[in-house]
Amino acid sequence: MKILLTGGAGFIATHTCVELCAAGHDVVIVDNYVNSNPEALRRVEEIVGHPVKAYEADVCDPEAMERIFAENQIDVVVHFAGLKAVGESVQIPLRYYRNNLDSTLTLCETMARHGCKRLVFSSSATVYGEPDEVPLREDMFCKGCTNPYGWTKYMIEKILQGVVNADPEWSVVLLRYFNPIGAHESGRIGEDPNGIPNNLMPYITKVAAGQLKRLTVFGNDYNTPDGTGVRDYIHVVDLANGHVKACDYAMDHVGCEIFNLGTGVGYSVLDLVNTFSRVNEIDLPYMIGPRRAGDVDACYADPKKAREVLGWEARKTLEDMCRDAWHWQKNNPKGYHD
Ligand code: UFG
Repeated sequence: MKILLTGGAGFIATHTCVELCAAGHDVVIVDNYVNSNPEALRRVEEIVGHPVKAYEADVCDPEAMERIFAENQIDVVVHFAGLKAVGESVQIPLRYYRNNLDSTLTLCETMARHGCKRLVFSSSATVYGEPDEVPLREDMFCKGCTNPYGWTKYMIEKILQGVVNADPEWSVVLLRYFNPIGAHESGRIGEDPNGIPNNLMPYITKVAAGQLKRLTVFGNDYNTPDGTGVRDYIHVVDLANGHVKACDYAMDHVGCEIFNLGTGVGYSVLDLVNTFSRVNEIDLPYMIGPRRAGDVDACYADPKKAREVLGWEARKTLEDMCRDAWHWQKNNPKGYHD
């Protein structure tokens, strides 16, 4: 099938593009490169061994989107495009709401005009809010978010559910990601954040590379076995394969379904630090600092529904994630800017 990836040059999208091509699908990409680099797509082409059609355009631009749908008979859209920095979203909320909501509305309007009614959306475990209990199941009540970025994910889920309610021919798959880390095992594509990373794994790899002095562990007084925050880290290639299954599912079903994409296993910050040091034989300097506002004790998935309905489950280990993240960082000290 022909699959459009919005925000196709990003971290999760590039890995998904590789797995979709490996599964025999035809991929088209749209990206405005505000938070990504066209070099990432060159590397994807190198991995898959053939060109991938890409448009440089903003998903908020109705004319550009019209042209893409007029020129390509799209079967399924995977909507990755969006601003995603939690802290930044608190500083410039209007930009987050405008960009993330507008792009989704423009995309859906264009899809409807062209009779393309299958959409897979990049949502986030952040929509669950502060969990009352873990593991998190898709049918649990979402208590609301602690930042505008999270709210855009929450609101887009509601918008898409509304689209399906109004027109039952639509097929919408909402994928709630947990904590994607790691990189393609080739070391050619990976996560390339702008500036000082906010997330744990890219921060660790920059410390390991000597680009940052030491990691600050945000709190060791959480209600967890070692006191540091527990998350469900998932290898980005496993996550990418979840999208391949979600596209297959969208082809054969109508309605709106939500799936957690996580491993179901929670690891602490110190588990990650220790595993990274061990598998890569690198000493990681760290200090314990205060808690970061908005962080929860523990967040991990119940991945049963994805296993039973999509036939998908994560296979890679924490060791794989740490080894592949370091392989990418070591080979690309400046990400795609080398
Ligand atoms: N952490 C540190 N030091 C750092 C960075 C992070 O100790 O320098 C800790 C955090 O306190 C947390 C854990 O590492 O316990 C993971 O933090 P991340 O920032 O890597 O990830 P989060 O779980 O906070 O957030 C991620 C994504 C969000 C998404 C959310 C879904 O960044 O986009 O998962 O639950 F919404």
